[in-house]
Amino acid sequence: MSVDLAAYLAAERRTIDAALDRLLPGEEVWPQRLHQAMRYAVFGGGKRLRPLLVRACCQAAGGDPELVLEASCALELIHTYSLIHDDLPALDNDTLRRGRATVHVAFDEALAILAGDALLTEGFAVLARYPEGQRWAERRAEACRLVAQAVGSVGMVGGQVEDLEATGAAPDAGRLERIHRAKTGALLGAATELGALLAGADAEVRARFARFGQEFGLLFQIADDILDVTGTAAELGKSPGKDAAAGKLTYPLVHGLEEARQKREELAASLRGAAQALEGEGGVLQALVDYCAGRRG
Ligand code: FPP
Ligand code: MG
Repeated sequence: MSVDLAAYLAAERRTIDAALDRLLPGEEVWPQRLHQAMRYAVFGGGKRLRPLLVRACCQAAGGDPELVLEASCALELIHTYSLIHDDLPALDNDTLRRGRATVHVAFDEALAILAGDALLTEGFAVLARYPEGQRWAERRAEACRLVAQAVGSVGMVGGQVEDLEATGAAPDAGRLERIHRAKTGALLGAATELGALLAGADAEVRARFARFGQEFGLLFQIADDILDVTGTAAELGKSPGKDAAAGKLTYPLVHGLEEARQKREELAASLRGAAQALEGEGGVLQALVDYCAGRRG
């Protein structure tokens, strides 16, 4: 592999974490418990996949990843809101995330709802503000629009609603793909497109980056579904078999484990080709596809 992915991921994580720390109010700022809960969730051990995709795609599209650092963090704030709300008793009712108590357990349910609300709002404030300067004003406005569409009622929130509705329902391949594309693929597609948009790419190039992110989200989710069946608690940071126990539609449930693995390989192969076309041979996007597809199981 021409990219040392582990070193790259660690360096990105340091850079992104430092920027998130600058962007979020301190725990001593009123209202303290809210800011504690927001920081507890944001600094809970996430991989920073969405921000690093924004930065990698910005670079691949000819832009400067430093210029988009803050905007890339907006997606991590929005992602974190979605995880807090996903874990709530009314949704997945999870007590553990990334090996730690979920926000509504560590704090309380009302504060978890409000911390999610504040992170979502703050995410858009960051997108509206960065990159700073009048010359980027049009791109900032377009960034707000594209991210809002991705996480709104026909994107992430819609996918979450159908996920809840489909829980316990009969296996349905089309429905499953629609859920994953909306719930996970939409925000990842927004990340890759945002990088290209902020690099100044035209509509056609932006669409290619968006498609890459959406398909990457699908691969991510198929791999995650497989791991839920085959992985250990240590590998997952959560208890395995949760999806099946909750009656969720998953790839192994709908297609069987072997066919799910085959779909994962096919999608990974096509994404490797797409990554190469977007960034050249042996780049970060290709390494991320390998990493995602190669997760054991
Ligand atoms: C894991 O990401 C999370 C996902 C793949 C997203 C799943 C989508 C939802 C939970 C939608 C929730 C939406 C609402 C509106 C409640 P990751 O492996 O990148 O997590 P990390 O940040 O822990 O690394
Ligand atoms: Mg969940």
